[in-house]
Amino acid sequence: MSAAGLVEVVVHSLTSDGDRVLLVDLRPVDTGAVGTDAKLPPFEAGAHLDLHLDSPSGSVVRQYSLIGPDDDTSRYLIAVLRERDGRGGSAAVHGLAVGTRLAVSPPRNSFRLDPGAGHSVLLAGGIGVTPVVAMAERLHRQGASFELHVYSATPQTLPLARHLEGRPWRDRVVLHYSSAGDGFRGNAQSVIPRHTPGRALYVCGPLGMIASATACASAREWPRSAVHTEQFARSQAVETAGEEFTVVVASTGRELAVGPEETIAAVLRRHGIETTLACEQGLCGSCLTPVLAGIPDHRDEVQSPAERETNTLINVCCSRSLSPSLTLGI
Ligand code: FES
Repeated sequence: MSAAGLVEVVVHSLTSDGDRVLLVDLRPVDTGAVGTDAKLPPFEAGAHLDLHLDSPSGSVVRQYSLIGPDDDTSRYLIAVLRERDGRGGSAAVHGLAVGTRLAVSPPRNSFRLDPGAGHSVLLAGGIGVTPVVAMAERLHRQGASFELHVYSATPQTLPLARHLEGRPWRDRVVLHYSSAGDGFRGNAQSVIPRHTPGRALYVCGPLGMIASATACASAREWPRSAVHTEQFARSQAVETAGEEFTVVVASTGRELAVGPEETIAAVLRRHGIETTLACEQGLCGSCLTPVLAGIPDHRDEVQSPAERETNTLINVCCSRSLSPSLTLGI
């Protein structure tokens, strides 16, 4: 692992699996074979990592969910949809060659399985299938009850069709095509029944799908704690402005003013203190920074309500301070 906490991996194989979808197999640099002793940092089902990439517009950092079983740390498997109007990250992945070395962050998880659930309903829209594939792997290995519904416009646009077909739990997968009148909207009630204790719902996909699913679940009396979602973009831009406050850098005692229109990350950068930034929308968790004193004004969508209450971490790309001063563990 590098000083910055990044891990160097090598592209072991690249496989097309669906319209504009590339399956990328990343291995530790000092091994080329699955099952050897070389290990990558562990991960949980639902986790994602940051991929550090070179693109024509410079270095970019993008997040991708890990789809492999979480008991296999000999490799990281990700699946990347080439975006038509993307910001360059997916095009850079699709331009990778076998043998390329890359830096990745250790995996993080903000989309966890509830270990106490008796039955899990996994819903995925398009490339949102990636984290729920890893969840299905984990639930299958546990012998847990689950069903996985994947929504796609057509069979041709279904991501990871071959990968899904090869899984030992493929009989739990139900495919839905809007071209056949089986889209999610309008049919949500068919896969989200009235809540019964012990059921957990997981949804990953476009914002519209998540909004429909959470509205349907609420109408069918699912408690909020039983509904888990992961989205690819915020429904509206995060509000990062607010009152001025002071950030204290614990390692040096330096005090830095954060103006009403500035983010903590921007102020740190201006003073030569680098932080890892990726989404800059409070969605990915790349910029989580320890808080040693003060009360953050959390504006991210990464930390759970319980995690926020501890006030031990802050997303410096978007969150602010409720106290006049915030001491950061950097
Ligand atoms: S950079 Fe993604 S949450 Fe801050």
